[in-house]
Amino acid sequence: MTGAEFIKRLKEAKLLLPPLAGYTDYPYRRILTEFDAPFMCTEMISCEAVARGNPRTTRMLKKPDGAHMHGAQIFGDEPDTMAEAAQVIESMGFDYVDINMGCAVKALTQNGAGVSLMGEPIKAGEVVSSVVKSVSIPVTCKIRLGESRRELNAPELSMVLEDAGVAAITVHGRSGEKKFGEPVNYDMIKEVVETVSIPVVGNGGVFTGTDTVEMMKTGVDAVMPGRGLIGNPWIISELRSSLLGGAFSEPLLEERKATCIRHLMYLIDFSGEKDGVLTMRRVLPRYFMGAVHASDLRIRMTEISSKQDALSILDKLVQRDDQIIYLRD
Ligand SMILES: Cc1cc2nc3c(=O)[nH]c(=O)nc-3n(C[C@H](O)[C@H](O)[C@H](O)COP(=O)(O)O)c2cc1C
Repeated sequence: MTGAEFIKRLKEAKLLLPPLAGYTDYPYRRILTEFDAPFMCTEMISCEAVARGNPRTTRMLKKPDGAHMHGAQIFGDEPDTMAEAAQVIESMGFDYVDINMGCAVKALTQNGAGVSLMGEPIKAGEVVSSVVKSVSIPVTCKIRLGESRRELNAPELSMVLEDAGVAAITVHGRSGEKKFGEPVNYDMIKEVVETVSIPVVGNGGVFTGTDTVEMMKTGVDAVMPGRGLIGNPWIISELRSSLLGGAFSEPLLEERKATCIRHLMYLIDFSGEKDGVLTMRRVLPRYFMGAVHASDLRIRMTEISSKQDALSILDKLVQRDDQIIYLRD
């Protein structure tokens, strides 16, 4: 796919789904295909591991079939290795490659990757140039407002990235201190939009249609939810209805349960019952976030060890009027 096709699809769909480590794995991406996701992305993946052909990493790059555009996100700070990894990703049939310049986890930043690349614009430009030159699929970047709140350089860095040839930039409207509670700085996202001529995707605090409308006021071409996608594939139609029109209604309990059970089955198919159920311990409660006694549900989930345990917990969720209730023991 060319950069022009990518941009056309992005401007039509106005919705890019995020990379989420520990969540946008192959089983969940299978679920997302069933919800007509226009774009989706892998979890962040180390460029060294991709370039070396590490078997665990290759598994993380498994792609579900579907009409969506599929991206893979890589992290690293070494231009040649990042280029090698991008070539592997292109050869696997991915539609685009995204470069992580937003992750604030120490394991990445202490090695110069993730958000720390934002503090070194020259190096960031070299990494991106090297990747852009090595592949013919579009390259995108996901950044924050800056490495820290004292160094908010997203507009300046965006110019560097545009010059280096990226097709689009996603801006998470917070700085790199890793505090999700901080409000999103819409003004600075707007500044990025006004600085570059490539599409900008707004990210941070997009959980509902109302948040989407607020984010679109910055002039971004598309929005990207984050935490709102976890255990909530319905966010795709919720955001789409506020972006493009059309009705949206919250799923009823039975639909939530059925989707959660399919997710469990896909996890077990992919990783076996033991590991699949381990992942489900943190995923299942996210499907029932607002339930009465949700904290008891979360505690109970930490004890499960089989598919049957997970199904028994789902049996204890009931709907009364508008409320979902977990019937604790
Ligand atoms: C559990 C979790 C995993 C994440 N993993 C990634 C990742 O792999 N790559 C990335 O660029 N951002 C990652 N992020 C950041 C999100 O993509 C997004 O930028 C952030 O959550 C802000 O959006 P929100 O306020 O809507 O949650 C992650 C966030 C969470 C909560």
